[in-house]
Amino acid sequence: MTTVALYNIKGGVGKTAGCVNLAYLAAEEGKNVLIWDLDPQGSASFYFSVEPGIKGGVRKLLAQEGSGLENSIRPTAYEQLYLLPADFSNRYLDVVIEETKQAKKKMKALLASLQGRFDYLFIDCPPGIGPLSEAIFAAADFVVLPSIPTTLSIRTYEMALAFFEENNLDPARIVAYFSMVDIRKNLHNETLAKYYKNKQFLRNYIPYLSTVEKMGSHLAPVAAFAPSSYAAQCYRDLWKELKKKTGI
Ligand SMILES: Nc1ncnc2c1ncn2[C@@H]1O[C@H](COP(=O)(O)OP(=O)(O)OP(=O)(O)O)[C@@H](O)[C@H]1O
Ligand SMILES: [Mg+2]
Repeated sequence: MTTVALYNIKGGVGKTAGCVNLAYLAAEEGKNVLIWDLDPQGSASFYFSVEPGIKGGVRKLLAQEGSGLENSIRPTAYEQLYLLPADFSNRYLDVVIEETKQAKKKMKALLASLQGRFDYLFIDCPPGIGPLSEAIFAAADFVVLPSIPTTLSIRTYEMALAFFEENNLDPARIVAYFSMVDIRKNLHNETLAKYYKNKQFLRNYIPYLSTVEKMGSHLAPVAAFAPSSYAAQCYRDLWKELKKKTGI
């Protein structure tokens, strides 16, 4: 099982949109896929019309190191795509992880308990940086970071990179891509050109498109309700490049 965490310290950059759409494409290819909605906002759960709620919350899951996880996994309307829903108690996850002895080890054990059942685990992370993100950085194979090509958004990419370097984590496990791109904006164009030169970002990006916004009214991934749309094509190209770059 490959674990991919959609992460950015910054909010509203397209993490959930990326998570839901990439996971859907992986399932469409015939892979067994689980999305773990770790955000107390529960947006990924909302997109799949799955009620939030995990028996005993994630605190209990962590304490049990994985047993009991099975009871909380829900099917979605799509074959081979499953969801571990959000739980409102997830808002305390930083505290829970801080208080849990060997939390990183337990998080890894929790993910390992899914081994064999799923080909991919996509984690939809809440914005921010704290004990939870650190545990995810340690446990995930790849941290996929959507970033809007603006100065403040790019700064958070640099911050994630610096955090990895300072904590002896392999920065090659961070894969960034541009999200909500508006090529009519000079700043977006200049930022794209600058970062492409450094080869730090995937070449394929997700433009600012109303089809992506419409996920909220269709309650579905774009490739499910608009399979031949430009937005669906962009996510397909991104998924293809991500797989090629990481070998997943
Ligand atoms: N490529 C896009 N084009 C247009 N709108 C988008 C795009 N990607 C995301 N959005 C919209 O922007 C908003 C934020 O997106 P999303 O929820 O994916 O971000 P997020 O990083 O997960 O946010 P949060 O930090 O709150 O979890 C949503 O309303 C979503 O529909
Ligand atoms: Mg989100």
